This record gives sequence, C-alpha cells and structure tokens, in this order.
Amino acid sequence: MQKFKVLISEKDIKKRVKALASRINRDFKGEHLYIIGILNGCYMFLSDLTKELKMPCTVDFMRVSSYGNATETSGIVRIIMDVSESLSGKNVLIVEDIIDTGLTMDYLIRTIKQKKPKSVKICTLLHKKVKTRINVDIDYCGFEVPDKFVVGYGLDYNNMYRNLRYIGYK
Ligand code: IMP
Repeated sequence: MQKFKVLISEKDIKKRVKALASRINRDFKGEHLYIIGILNGCYMFLSDLTKELKMPCTVDFMRVSSYGNATETSGIVRIIMDVSESLSGKNVLIVEDIIDTGLTMDYLIRTIKQKKPKSVKICTLLHKKVKTRINVDIDYCGFEVPDKFVVGYGLDYNNMYRNLRYIGYK
C-alpha cells in the first residue's frame, strides 16, 4: 500500500463522527430520518455515523457521476442510481464524503427538493472551502480541509485507497 501523509487520524475521525451523531440525535429526537448516502465515497463514514444514531431511520443510497478527470469535477452531474422510496414528507439527511466545488451537492439538493421532502439537511465529513464554486448550506460538517486531494476512509483516487482508516494526502 502506498504511503500517505496523515491529514486526519483515525482517532480524530472517530471523535468527530461521534460529535456529529450526537448533534443529529439532538436535532431529530423523536423524528424519523431518511438518510441518503452518496456512493461510493460515503460508505465508511455513513456506516460509523449511523451506528451512533438513536432515532428510527431508513438508510438509502444514491450514486451520481460527474464527468471529469480523476481529481477535478466537471460539474455535469448524472444520477446513476436513485433512492428507492418516495421522499414526500420525509426528513432527509444527505451524507456525503466531501464537498469540494459544491457542484455535486447543489445538483443533489435541487433534485431531492423536487421530491417534496419535509426537510433536507446536509452532512459531509469533509469540506474544501477554498474550492467553493457554488455555496451550499452545510448543516453538519466533520472537518474543513485544505486544497489537497485526499484519500482514505471511503475517499478514493482512481477507485483505490478507500480502505485506509485515516484521511491522507500525497
Ligand atoms: P464537488 O462536486 O466538486 O463538490 O465534488 C464532490 C465529489 O468529488 C466528491 O463526492 C468526491 O467524490 C470527489 N472529490 C472531490 N475532492 C476529492 C478529494 O480530495 N478526494 C477524493 N474525492 C474527491
């Protein structure tokens, strides 16, 4: 396995995921939550986060593709796999690995809102604020990260390195 520098350690991720989960538990106490994980990058974060949630919840997934090269998004987003149930009247929580330019999340929010949910909140593990092209209101953010291409804990480079326990960079 290639060696990466550690940007966020396994220990810090665990601590932060627990803190995010307790805020979500507080905000949605007694409510049902419809969680939509954005594949593939969300899988590790979503798994750890949902284990800490105490309200009744449904876990569903969407897969989107945005054309571009390995490290830059083009902003042209396409839905490859949509949610499996109606979102009408539901409290939706979108769980994403990273918001970079914001183009993918902006598209997702607009698409999901057309399905008339009761509410839509965004939870992202990472946010590259410096790369913002479209502002999206992030409700739960794990870490702000610098303008580096990061891998690990679900995030990939050419579909590799997702299984690292930490967030790393070259
Ligand atoms: P955005 O549309 O530019 O916000 O890009 C969002 C998507 O780009 C994420 O869901 C990731 O799949 C990918 N991405 C952006 N930056 C990184 C990175 O540093 N590492 C891995 N994937 C990234």
